[in-house]
Amino acid sequence: MMNRRLSGFTPSGHLHLGNLLGALRPMAAAQDDHESIAMIADLHALTLEHDPATIRALTREQVSVLLAAGIDPARTAIILQSQVREHTELHYLLESATMHGEAARMIQFKEKSAAGGPVRLSLLTYPVLMAADILLYDTRHVPVGDDQSQHLELARTIATRFNRRYGETFTVPEGIKTEGTARIMDLANPAAKMAKSSGTGRIGLLDPSDVVRRTIARAVTDPVGVVRRDPDAQPGITNLLEILTACTGSAPTGFTSYDALKRAVTEAVEATLAPIRARYAELLTDPGHVDAVLADGKARVRETAQATVQRARQAIGLLS
Ligand code: ADP
Ligand code: TRP
Repeated sequence: MMNRRLSGFTPSGHLHLGNLLGALRPMAAAQDDHESIAMIADLHALTLEHDPATIRALTREQVSVLLAAGIDPARTAIILQSQVREHTELHYLLESATMHGEAARMIQFKEKSAAGGPVRLSLLTYPVLMAADILLYDTRHVPVGDDQSQHLELARTIATRFNRRYGETFTVPEGIKTEGTARIMDLANPAAKMAKSSGTGRIGLLDPSDVVRRTIARAVTDPVGVVRRDPDAQPGITNLLEILTACTGSAPTGFTSYDALKRAVTEAVEATLAPIRARYAELLTDPGHVDAVLADGKARVRETAQATVQRARQAIGLLS
């Protein structure tokens, strides 16, 4: 119960090396010491233009990749946001404790809505749904990167306000920086973080060897010609060194050329991804595994979710 952790993954693209090193690995490592929940945030994937068949396929793929990357369903409940209905029920109750201005102020909302085209109402309200995801499970720790810290702050604000106004109902969560790894940057554009939406500079966890090799071979470097950490003057080389350190577990030294560095990075990334690819392929031979894992995850969290919604309903003035 104490120190429960919740991590969320939105099925809006393929999981990549940044997700592995920044989120999945720390999560796998923490499974013994923390009660963990891993959630696929499929409802969040509906906030932007989407293709229904793609969302379904990516949802299944992400569950399998989580398993292949070492998230153990015996220790970590793996759940699908849309299958635990309490997420959406609590979402509405929390909307009634959130101000329009608070949601409209979110940087991600501003950025994504400024991209042009019609803006879905769910894009505005999704940070409130994220708050519901977190508060539903009395979550204490939420591993968040920089881009989600404002959303976590909103969840804290909503929880605190609700508790003050309607009585102690929610655990106020805390963000934790994911241990160890720095941000992995896009290999084609080391000024930007590697993201699901990145183009040619992204290493997908299921990319075949030859694609991985080509992506690293094409990685942007610089004209300096010396292999060293210098995030400002040599962001590409620094990123390659970060990746190498994260994959091998030790800080590499002694490279005399960019080619030699790239060869070492290719080898290290291959060694990291090959077992994940193999386990993923093995999982695919059992087509029922995703549904089974999600059903099990849901069964394990349901009671807590129902209890929280019941508390919130009562506190805010609904009949039980
Ligand atoms: P994306 O930006 O690719 O859509 P998400 O925002 O869904 O990824 O992030 C899921 C998790 O992976 C978060 O915990 C986030 O901090 C981590 N993560 C995402 N991209 C990176 C990266 N480039 N380097 C390190 N960690 C990352
Ligand atoms: N919004 C998060 C993202 O885009 C995913 C997410 C949804 C999440 N619900 C969450 C993360 C709850 C942590 C806790 O990456």
